Amino acid sequence: MLFGKSKNLVGLDIGSSSIKAVELLVGGRPGRETYKLKSLGVEPLPPQTIVERDIIDNLQVSEAIKKLFAERKIKTRSVCTGIAGNSVIVKKFSLAQMTPEELAESIHWEAEQYIPFPIADVNLDYQAVESSKAAEQGKMEVLLAAAKKDKISGYTSVITQAGRNTVVVDVDAFAVQNAYEINYEMPINRVVALLNIGASLMNINILYQGVSIFSRDISIGGNNYTDAIQKGLNLSFERAEAAKKGEAVDGAAPQQVANIMNEVSDDLKNEIQKTFEFFKATSGQERIDQIMLSGGTAKVSGLADLLSDKFNTPVEIMNPFRNVSFNPKAYDPDYIADIAPFCTVSLGLALRKVGDR
Ligand SMILES: Nc1ncnc2c1ncn2[C@@H]1O[C@H](COP(=O)(O)OP(=O)(O)OP(=O)(O)O)[C@@H](O)[C@H]1O
Ligand SMILES: [Mg+2]
Repeated sequence: MLFGKSKNLVGLDIGSSSIKAVELLVGGRPGRETYKLKSLGVEPLPPQTIVERDIIDNLQVSEAIKKLFAERKIKTRSVCTGIAGNSVIVKKFSLAQMTPEELAESIHWEAEQYIPFPIADVNLDYQAVESSKAAEQGKMEVLLAAAKKDKISGYTSVITQAGRNTVVVDVDAFAVQNAYEINYEMPINRVVALLNIGASLMNINILYQGVSIFSRDISIGGNNYTDAIQKGLNLSFERAEAAKKGEAVDGAAPQQVANIMNEVSDDLKNEIQKTFEFFKATSGQERIDQIMLSGGTAKVSGLADLLSDKFNTPVEIMNPFRNVSFNPKAYDPDYIADIAPFCTVSLGLALRKVGDR
């Protein structure tokens, strides 16, 4: 059987507006894998259940996970989930070259300089990254990820309550990168900015020669549009959401909605610009050659064109299922195309393997 090997792990993205689950069947051979969708589901969450990626209502979230797994008939118990936001710190720095054992010993001490929380309160992970530039100077580059323990346990405990096991915890920005890698040819000598814009956060991950050279999360996203429409037109959250998606809503003239949304898009654009300026000032890179958009807010009409004009760069909405086959009898291709932007993180999480750190 071509797609015989199930990875036995579900990518579970617990976002502030909805929970997404993706399970893949992986075939082919190492370096030439093929991917087929085994299961996929999206379960919306009421507003205020998760705020800025902090879980406020544990029961609501664990019930939503249970419902999603039951409805989609997902039996697999092992889950890879993602965290994001201001309690996750990702830093890249260079060190004198050392052996893996020496690095393991010194990483805590090194990390203290980069992490604004007490080291005892965080889980650390790190990885030496290939850099010929650093090697020429007798140095090595290290990518460090740190997350507050209480943040991680918030996520793992709702998953446990839902009867599943968290076997890998990843960072959303890196899951987006993994989703990009299996679906797109990594361009040589070009800087690619991945922008995943969800409800509460924008995850920015900038790649060069296949590696992440900068990443940052910013607290701006689809909720900013909804809030502005809600306040500007005095609507409920639900009606403002509908108006944002272009649905006809009493009391929300399309032109008024468009004007409000354009202002928010300008704020978003300015935040991206600030980050790009900071990136250019600190990385020595002068250009961004391409922008790949994902997340539900990538669907805001006109946003891709606005960013393309502003940054004078091609902007493409990323399709996380570009190289993933699926049974069209089980999944309507139009439905897949519609929800694809939301599923980028969950697909990237589903690519991780049991036993990964
Ligand atoms: N057609 C649409 N037009 C504009 N916005 C949309 C559309 N469809 C969905 N959205 C918005 O996309 C957002 C959800 O995106 P996504 O699922 O990527 O976020 P999330 O993962 O739940 O949130 P987080 O930012 O916490 O990770 C919501 O703000 C939703 O209103
Ligand atoms: Mg998200």
